[in-house]
Amino acid sequence: HSLLALAHEMPKTELHLHIEGTFEPELMFSIAKRNSVPLKYQTVEELKSAYQFENLQDFLDLYYQGMSVLLKEQDFYDLTMAYLERVHRDNVVHVEIFFDPQGHTSRNVSFETQINGIYRALKDGESKFGMTFKLIMSFLRHLSEEDAFKTLEQAKPYLDWIDGVGLDSSEVGNPPLNFKNVFEECKKLGLAVTAHAGEEGPPEYVWQAIDTIKVDRIDHGNRALEEADLIAAIKSRGLTLTVCPLSNLKLCVVSDMKNHPIRTMLKFGLNATVNSDDPAYFGGYMNDNYTALIQGSGISKIELYTLACNSFNGSWLNSEQKSKHL
Ligand code: ADE
Ligand code: ZN
Repeated sequence: HSLLALAHEMPKTELHLHIEGTFEPELMFSIAKRNSVPLKYQTVEELKSAYQFENLQDFLDLYYQGMSVLLKEQDFYDLTMAYLERVHRDNVVHVEIFFDPQGHTSRNVSFETQINGIYRALKDGESKFGMTFKLIMSFLRHLSEEDAFKTLEQAKPYLDWIDGVGLDSSEVGNPPLNFKNVFEECKKLGLAVTAHAGEEGPPEYVWQAIDTIKVDRIDHGNRALEEADLIAAIKSRGLTLTVCPLSNLKLCVVSDMKNHPIRTMLKFGLNATVNSDDPAYFGGYMNDNYTALIQGSGISKIELYTLACNSFNGSWLNSEQKSKHL
């Protein structure tokens, strides 16, 4: 077996995936058309040529623009189903996906409309492909904690469908500390908690995610490697890092795949995993991320195997559900 075949064929989970980041230009144009929403770009090619980012914010500006054509429940269903069909082919057997409710309620698309479409697709994906799922509602950190609390109120009728909460969008200048109270409330409601930390933001933000937000997982975590005691803290707590190789490359978090920190994370004994983040924008889904690591970083067979194991261990499946997949 070649490393590529091994990586592509092994069963794995995806733990860091923004459903709005799976919006392929072709689907975006077709939904824009049926909703009569004008797009800033005339053709798929023109839109794709804009996908060149120097940092996270460059990407986020296009990401929010793209999702603005999503208006109806069916739009959210079609978006989610297209993603599930795509990663089923990559041998992803379990997904834990983010959605950004505030990216839609801010445009007067109700929480109900969003979650009905996303959840129905996840249930259909489960019966069609046997693909299990968790749904994570993510707060936008460039907005206020008060706005996050409003979103939590809107979510309350759907807590049976929501497994966890996250924190995403523009990191620098918007530390986890700003959201201490709302995450405390989420914990009381029994939700699992994760936060983007150390993607662009300093190690201090990763400390806050751990100590203040009390996360169950860390999204990205690249910059945690800058501090030895932070590495030790992540390790001693057994926290999983949901790392996103192609995203890091596209957003200039790393300069070259050969400098990607994921192998260093594994050497330190951290539970790193491979994820695609926003695959429609970053040039690849799950297996493309593995391919990039194999071709660019010199990763070994045992490391690939460890990454897949970590993706199950770091998931929020219980042990019985995990063993069903393995
Ligand atoms: N929203 C979607 N993708 C994101 C990322 N990589 N970082 C922060 N917010 C995001
Ligand atoms: Zn992300």
